[in-house]
Amino acid sequence: MHRRLSPFRDDSDMRSPFLLVQLSDPHIGAEWAEGDPGEALAAAVKSVCAMRPQPAAVLVTGDLADRAADAEYERVRELLAPLAAPAYVLGGNHDDRAALRHHFGLPGTDAEPICYAVDLGPVRLVALDSTIPGDVPGALDSERLTWLERVLAASPEQPTLIAMHHPPLRTGVPGWDEIGIGAEDRRLLGEVLAGYRQVRRVVAGHLHRTITGALADRSVLAVPSTYVQARLNFGSHEFELAVEPAGFAVHAVLDGEVTSHIQPVVQPRAA
Ligand SMILES: [Fe+2]
Ligand SMILES: [Fe+2]
Repeated sequence: MHRRLSPFRDDSDMRSPFLLVQLSDPHIGAEWAEGDPGEALAAAVKSVCAMRPQPAAVLVTGDLADRAADAEYERVRELLAPLAAPAYVLGGNHDDRAALRHHFGLPGTDAEPICYAVDLGPVRLVALDSTIPGDVPGALDSERLTWLERVLAASPEQPTLIAMHHPPLRTGVPGWDEIGIGAEDRRLLGEVLAGYRQVRRVVAGHLHRTITGALADRSVLAVPSTYVQARLNFGSHEFELAVEPAGFAVHAVLDGEVTSHIQPVVQPRAA
């Protein structure tokens, strides 16, 4: 039995937050390490399905498939199917824009950047494509930044999360910063963010690890992969792998503020 700490506790403290789950980098079809990325994503989905209360929406921040094969995307769809909440996906450097569009019914046509905004009620989700087709690092051209500014200007009062694949951060790890978003593009994105206070956080994946920083006074969060994790090595120019827990993020929105939690997932044993 729980003891009440104060008889004067405000009932507003007891309200449930709006929950947005963020899965990232499942890399279905990959053979980077022992273990099946499909089983790893299934374990993450099972963990999400066990949440009480259930999340209202699920975001998947890129690298859904490892080789962008149709069969890989179909497997992702099957693996996400047990989720009760709608899933919003965006592309990573391993994805193919046209294939992702085809399999997930995303807006836009063919290989143009996948950018969209969706009103989830307590929070607005803005998916911003940070990929360069055929390349590993990320970029933001003037077309995408103009789109972002227009979308943010259209709803300046609504708390907003921006979701990207590449986190707009300098990590200090050479191997990660070489595959990130360059300084000039980060600066330009920061200029846009500075004008729109409703942006609460920028969330991303790509680095297969929990990393936080800031851009234009807004927090930037990179979340773990549901598959394999990156090793923290400040002396490395490589993307090294580590045997560390997979995980996902749970963004809790309450009274317009966003608090982000990282939930580890126990990976299934390698066959
Ligand atoms: Fe990835
Ligand atoms: Fe990536």
